[in-house]
Amino acid sequence: MARTALVTGGTRGIGAAISQALKADGHTVAATYSGNDEAAEAFKSQTGISVYKWDVGDFDACQDGIAKVTADHGAIGILVNNAGITRDAPLHKMTPEQWQEVMATNLTSAFNMSRGVIDSMREQGFGRIINISSINGQKGQFGQANYAATKAGVIGFTKSLALEGARKGITANVVSPGYINTDMMKTLSEEIMASIIAQIPAGRLGEADEVARCVSFLAADTAGFINGATLSVNGAQYLD
Ligand code: CAA
Repeated sequence: MARTALVTGGTRGIGAAISQALKADGHTVAATYSGNDEAAEAFKSQTGISVYKWDVGDFDACQDGIAKVTADHGAIGILVNNAGITRDAPLHKMTPEQWQEVMATNLTSAFNMSRGVIDSMREQGFGRIINISSINGQKGQFGQANYAATKAGVIGFTKSLALEGARKGITANVVSPGYINTDMMKTLSEEIMASIIAQIPAGRLGEADEVARCVSFLAADTAGFINGATLSVNGAQYLD
């Protein structure tokens, strides 16, 4: 059945691929972004997907944004918490700001957004919450104590939601990408990139579409018995 889907950070990178995959599945998609107006406008004109600007780390902004999307497109049946940032530094150099920014955007956002849709999903007797984690939340990563903590946190958060939603037709699952060919990777030096690719048995980065198809699968009405799972998409770089 066609649903209204909301994808945070849905205008660029993995999020853009997810938005487009859900649209291709027949859902009405709304994509949020936080800063890059130019990329968001280009995405909107290329795909016809509506875009909304707010800070997912801000609880009130999330509630207002969800109300607007609901007024425009109807009750949200699928929520994809994808928005994420990095502020890499080893702990001895990490600032409280680098810690807090990553917490707000990657983890508090999942609470802010899920809290905003949960009452409506309970009323609908249907919901799909899909949270994007990372291989580095599963294995840890030098220079990413902040990022890895949020991405591991997302997994515990999701498992708890799975237990709470199961009786109401609401599933919560994690998709955990490895290193994917997006702008986030462009912050890394050539030397670091080469060392990362050397650690991936597949011998290459993943593509955003390869993550999006997992979200599409978990968002389907027919995926109702998959709940609390973590689906890794990492070219065999980390197996758990
Ligand atoms: N393991 C062990 N030691 C390491 C290391 C590693 N992976 N990387 C660096 N070091 C060591 C260095 O050899 C150096 O040692 P010495 O002081 O003895 O020479 C020391 O740590 C300091 O290294 P740097 O000079 O590189 O430190 P820096 O402060 O300039 O940079 C860093 C640190 C920013 C974390 C940088 O190493 C870095 O960018 N690392 C990659 C982090 C990474 O993989 N991020 C993933 C981004 S993509 C993403 O997050 C998406 C996703 O979900 C997968």
